[in-house]
Amino acid sequence: MKVAVMCFSPTGTTRRVCLEIAKGISDSDPTVLDLTLPDGRTLLIGDPEQIVATYDHVVVGVPVYGGKIPPLARDTLSLVKGHGRRATAVAVYGNRDFGVALRRLCEILDSNGFQVVSAGAFIGEHSYSAVVPVAMSRPDAADLDTAQRFGAQSATASGVLAVDNVEEQLDMFSKSPKIASLKPRYSATACTECGSCGKVCPTAIIALSNGAYVSAELTARCIGCMACVRACPNDARTNKVNPMERFMLGMVLKKPSKARSEPKVFMPA
Ligand SMILES: Cc1cc2nc3c(=O)[nH]c(=O)nc-3n(C[C@H](O)[C@H](O)[C@H](O)COP(=O)(O)O)c2cc1C
Repeated sequence: MKVAVMCFSPTGTTRRVCLEIAKGISDSDPTVLDLTLPDGRTLLIGDPEQIVATYDHVVVGVPVYGGKIPPLARDTLSLVKGHGRRATAVAVYGNRDFGVALRRLCEILDSNGFQVVSAGAFIGEHSYSAVVPVAMSRPDAADLDTAQRFGAQSATASGVLAVDNVEEQLDMFSKSPKIASLKPRYSATACTECGSCGKVCPTAIIALSNGAYVSAELTARCIGCMACVRACPNDARTNKVNPMERFMLGMVLKKPSKARSEPKVFMPA
């Protein structure tokens, strides 16, 4: 069985969950088609018709942003043709809510000719956990065990998932077309120009040569994923917030910071 993991994962939790699911599907190592960085997306956009044609089962994973699929991931995935390949849809969220992301992902895959055999919402450490700690160290051992068992179930699932049965969590975030995000702060004085941040930026708005934003216009394209903050060894990029941002984030993440959500999976009836 040839398995591919196709994912968008700025801070790595979606990729970890998908790889664990792939382990449950097959003993052989999966091919990773990573859409996080521009190079990966270019590869895929270059051959959207055939990119998955040689695989038997594709695990497709996205993080949840504002209850939705991040537009960069959605727009790229919308191009990929499935040619009847089996697919497992995965949404990884920061313990608040997975909104409409998982259902939308199933719809995209289904309409592009994949045979969606299973779907799962899993939990990863919240991208903003340095401001409000939420889902720290997740996915943990229990999550990864669930992911691997879900993979094994997906490998043998017969029939196709009824997409309408995949849960949607409608609230003001998932209903809004916008995605509220925090933007990292940049300190040129703390920056040693090592280039670590630029290498992990999904929107390529950071100059590899000196760590500065390429232009004010491009800075507006920051998706607030915090990949650069996690990669910076010198605290030149941080998620320092002002009192109003801290208050708002505290309100939104108060409940998720206290109660643990568990993965939810959806299989054919
Ligand atoms: C802009 C933004 C919006 C987010 N919105 C949500 C959300 O609506 N619900 C939630 O539970 N987590 C939300 N998160 C947290 C991420 O879904 C979570 O941290 C995920 O594990 C990140 O995946 P990655 O490690 O693959 O990048 C958001 C994160 C960011 C950066």
